[in-house]
Amino acid sequence: MSLSHPKSVLITGGSSGLGRALALAFAGHGTTIHLSGRDAARVEAVAEECRTRGADALGRVIDVTDAEAMAAWITEADDKTPLDLVIANAGITNSTSGVPEGPERTRRILAVNVDGVVNTVLPSLAAMDARDRGQIALIASIAGFRGLPTSSAYSASKAMVKTWGEGLRGERLKTGVRVNVVCPGWVESRITDANTFDMPLLMAADKAAAIIRRGLARDDARIVFPWQMHLAVWLLAALPPAWTDPVLNRKLSGRKW
Ligand SMILES: NC(=O)c1ccc[n+]([C@@H]2O[C@H](COP(=O)([O-])OP(=O)(O)OC[C@H]3O[C@@H](n4cnc5c(N)ncnc54)[C@H](OP(=O)(O)O)[C@@H]3O)[C@@H](O)[C@H]2O)c1
Repeated sequence: MSLSHPKSVLITGGSSGLGRALALAFAGHGTTIHLSGRDAARVEAVAEECRTRGADALGRVIDVTDAEAMAAWITEADDKTPLDLVIANAGITNSTSGVPEGPERTRRILAVNVDGVVNTVLPSLAAMDARDRGQIALIASIAGFRGLPTSSAYSASKAMVKTWGEGLRGERLKTGVRVNVVCPGWVESRITDANTFDMPLLMAADKAAAIIRRGLARDDARIVFPWQMHLAVWLLAALPPAWTDPVLNRKLSGRKW
């Protein structure tokens, strides 16, 4: 298996934003791309874009919170073409930018971003561990380094994804299975389209996908970008909350500085 040119790739949430950009980044002659989302038209549109790049693309309408359906889909995909790379990408955020998430959205965010990632990673790892080969990328976020006002559940979900991925990687250091954690800053997508606050260093999805692809080829444990956002969240996490909470509250509640 080549980390630079995986031949069989499965991406959850491949129908939009970062997932779409990743599907297109890996699509090419001789590759099979399995991608999922909940909207049939969006999934098929991206599958068709992958086909125009020469890939065999197979879209699936499936909710990542459905553990049984996810296990069946991943097993079926792996039986067809043993998966070289699985990207647990599907995720959601606050639906009401600038105000707290609320009880219903909190539960939904945790179901999609935590259970959905678990439902993707466990069946993939089972297949990869058995043949001692494969790579799994977990899409966390810069938001996972520090709890953020108006994105509390989102930050918590991404912290879980980040630390879980780091642990899974450590367990497999001496095996042929790679696990990588990806923590992007702001990337253009339906998520950022809905945000009403300033998003410094907002990056195009295809640029983010290219950075992720390079990091996965190098087997970087953590792929965190852009570096300025990494530095900023590192500082935010290190400084006392009494200093940083008022700043974050002003910034993320959509109010001007
Ligand atoms: N954009 C950013 O600034 C940013 C930064 C850091 C991390 N991320 C992470 O990047 C990932 C991709 O997000 P994005 O920014 O590209 O947003 P997006 O454009 O909204 O894409 C999200 C994808 O996930 C799918 N999805 C959502 N809920 C799902 C569910 N229950 N079951 C199956 N698929 C589901 C969506 O498809 P359907 O809606 O059709 O189901 C879509 O394909 C997320 O994990 C997000 O947290 C994004």
